[in-house]
Amino acid sequence: MIYARVAGTGSFLPGKPITNDDLVARGIETSDEWIAERTGIRMRHLAEPDVTASQLAYEASVRAIEAAGCQPSDIDLIIVATSTPDYIFPSTAALLQARLGITNGGAVFDLQAVCTGFAYALATAEKFIRSGSNKRALVVGAEVFSRILDWNDRGTCVLFGDGAGAVVLEASARPGILATALHADGSHSPILSVPGQINRGVVIGDPFLRMDGQAVFKFAVKVLGEVAREVVEQAGLTMGDVDWLIPHQANMRILQATGKRLGVPMEKVIATVAQHGNTSAASIPLALDLAVRDGRVQRGQKLLLEGVGGGFTWGAVLLEF
Ligand code: UT7
Repeated sequence: MIYARVAGTGSFLPGKPITNDDLVARGIETSDEWIAERTGIRMRHLAEPDVTASQLAYEASVRAIEAAGCQPSDIDLIIVATSTPDYIFPSTAALLQARLGITNGGAVFDLQAVCTGFAYALATAEKFIRSGSNKRALVVGAEVFSRILDWNDRGTCVLFGDGAGAVVLEASARPGILATALHADGSHSPILSVPGQINRGVVIGDPFLRMDGQAVFKFAVKVLGEVAREVVEQAGLTMGDVDWLIPHQANMRILQATGKRLGVPMEKVIATVAQHGNTSAASIPLALDLAVRDGRVQRGQKLLLEGVGGGFTWGAVLLEF
């Protein structure tokens, strides 16, 4: 039996943290009190204008490869989950591969499932590894969401940040990913979208993130509860067997409501949203890496990673670390 096992994790946040008070100082009509109370966010990191998703992905990947004790040349598959790629093409994954100095390597591609992107990418890489076609995958979530924020819309611009997280997933006789579940319902796309495009050199439509916050909130709590139960049942376990719940870091209130719905106490929920805001596809691997490096997550523990985002998409990965 071939399992896909996380061999190492890494993450990267660009520049200095920008606090809620820093946003007020920049002229946004908000307050630390409002943001902290409604979302739990205290700060976020924003990339300089010339810093791209592939650069953030590179920094996180170098750390993950080092933690895995392998070399870039050992990587035979790269999947980058992002909604804010460097270019229309080539893919961010191809640019990352070049930055890592890998030539004549295996498949590279971007995966677009917005905030569920990392769960989708991890589940996809697992299929490649379990089939025997690939031995070592680099799975990355990397975003520069600051590029698609309308800084005149206080209802959204205070929520998001930039960053990247990565894992090396390798073939192993030991478990490994135990269960995965991916879902989508495109009929909900209007409640969270960037409804624009580039057409003949001109932006058509709206190039900024638009969101119906309350509709997203309700949908997120419902599906995060459902999909967590789904993977736990698939693996023949109970929620009590899960050592750490690592949800997409969108909002502290969503994390709390999800934990409550699942009967998982907050002491077993990794919450890093206060430190980096919502970094979309980067948020799950960022939270995972921060918890690995501060010693909370230990080898042999069972981790439930789950996300929800634009599309709408949602999904979960249950793994033994
Ligand atoms: O990856 C998934 C991403 N999306 C999410 O996680 C979003 C989920 N939704 C939420 O987290 C919440 O809906 C928000 C935090 C976005 C908003 O909280 P809310 O309790 O749903 O607030 P609201 O949109 O109903 O707005 C309440 C008030 C409004 O003022 P009035 O009309 O009551 O006078 C807003 O204008 O808060 C006002 N407001 C703000 N005030 C200060 C909206 N944004 C801000 C702000 N600072 N940044």
